[in-house]
Amino acid sequence: MADRPDTVAAVDSQALTQEALAAVAAASTLSELDDARVKYLGRKSELKLALRDVRDRETGMALNAAREAIEQAVAAREAELERAEIDRKLQTERVDVTLPAELLGPLRPRRRGSLHPSTQARRDVEDIFVGLGYEVVDDREVETVRYNFDALGFPAWHPARSPRATLFLDDDTVLRTETSPAQIHKMEAQRPPIYMVSIGRTYRRDTIDATHYPIFHQFEGLAIDKGITMADLKGTLLYVMRALFGEDIEARFRTHYFPFTEPSMEPDVSCFVCGGSGCPTCKHSGWIELGGSGMVDPYLYEFVGWDPDEYTGFAFGLGIERTAQLRHKIDGLRPFWENDLRFLRQF
Ligand code: DAH
Repeated sequence: MADRPDTVAAVDSQALTQEALAAVAAASTLSELDDARVKYLGRKSELKLALRDVRDRETGMALNAAREAIEQAVAAREAELERAEIDRKLQTERVDVTLPAELLGPLRPRRRGSLHPSTQARRDVEDIFVGLGYEVVDDREVETVRYNFDALGFPAWHPARSPRATLFLDDDTVLRTETSPAQIHKMEAQRPPIYMVSIGRTYRRDTIDATHYPIFHQFEGLAIDKGITMADLKGTLLYVMRALFGEDIEARFRTHYFPFTEPSMEPDVSCFVCGGSGCPTCKHSGWIELGGSGMVDPYLYEFVGWDPDEYTGFAFGLGIERTAQLRHKIDGLRPFWENDLRFLRQF
């Protein structure tokens, strides 16, 4: 027999298996494992080359046993490393749903805004009067002297006509000092029955302090019909006050003077903080002033060309900020206009 190199016999299948299993066990990543698999099971591996040249049955069985053992070890190690990889991903890539939303970055949910306390009060006033069948009317903020003062019966000497009290744009034009001119515009536009509420900004030349601000909101009511009496005024205002401040409150009316109502009254609401026994909110009187009211002065009917004996009516003007202040126990007027979110977010 020709002497040919016995490559098969040169492979010690046991030693090879041990070496391969050690390399497989030492592989700590899938790519290291792949290197080991190529080295010991690849087409050019010692084992595969030896198998190709196998001559006798015994050697073939030994080499195949070695191949199987290595293949199994590779598969087992592969499964182990894959599981470890999944575990690692689960650890590092998971979303912690318990994290505070602020830490979630750009996807964090937006904080829900809220309406300005003045807007809330305004909307409540609108709802209450719509419920009473009143029409909600918007009106101009730039007003003529004629509508702001003359039509409302302000005498020539009245201090409100002074440029020191009122913001004049020119000799005949002012920023309205109250919502009352809306009464005249409505009366000129429409014959009774009139049931309207007009809400909006008013302006006065006041220096800013705790209780004064040059801009504020009022709501102005006007009801004109046949046979309206002061009882209707009192009943309506009591209803509105209870809707705004609570069913338990009482109303009180003090005589007063306004140029456009006769008689005139200032409505007070019983203090809903102390129930009327006296506290700082009501300045220890048990009552809180809300604005002005009265029966429409016949002068106004004449001004718009109506027979003053044909109709009667009542009017009132109250403050929106005042309403919000009382409902939320807000001190001062400045916070309403400063747009400080720390203040506004409370409502
Ligand atoms: N315009 C008055 C003010 O600003 C409030 C007022 C009083 C309005 C009596 C009215 C009223 O409609 O009848 O002080």
